Amino acid sequence: MRRDERRCISVTLNGRQRSGWCESRELLSDFLRHELGATGTHVGCEHGVCGACTVQVDGVAARSCLMLAVQAEDRRIDTVEGLAPDHQLGDLQLAFRRHHALQCGFCTAGILMSCADYLQRVPDPTEAQVREMLSGHICRCTGYTPIVAAVLDVAAARAQARQAGAQPAKEPSHA
Ligand code: FES
Ligand code: FES
Repeated sequence: MRRDERRCISVTLNGRQRSGWCESRELLSDFLRHELGATGTHVGCEHGVCGACTVQVDGVAARSCLMLAVQAEDRRIDTVEGLAPDHQLGDLQLAFRRHHALQCGFCTAGILMSCADYLQRVPDPTEAQVREMLSGHICRCTGYTPIVAAVLDVAAARAQARQAGAQPAKEPSHA
């Protein structure tokens, strides 16, 4: 079998300019993990069903197993690593920890990226809306209830902060 020609592409990964080599048919998920070392992005089904590989492309949640790496050229890619710059957990991650919203954690990175995008677009969702959004993710451990609670908790805290004209206070990280 003929090996595809490799080419060098550049992306803005979590705010930093990064370049790497990929084959023309290489998936974005594989490029992120194996070429750029962003292993927080997990791969499950590899055909767009489970949601584990969800990242954000130009600020919008997208399955990185349904996109070729070359399609990401010169675009902004955010992965779960970007939610904790300087190793400080963000409010969404802190809420997941508080509510025990992960078990094995395999699906968590993708869910966090979807939730982060969703809360930007729908800052005050109902429980039914959160559950509908999460229906795009398959959690093998089936722990959806604490995830819903965590998302609603963050939405409420952000709404309160907006009303007070301040950012929600961060919990100290014990990681
Ligand atoms: Fe991409 Fe399952 S690995 S949706
Ligand atoms: Fe285990 Fe979701 S926490 S797959």
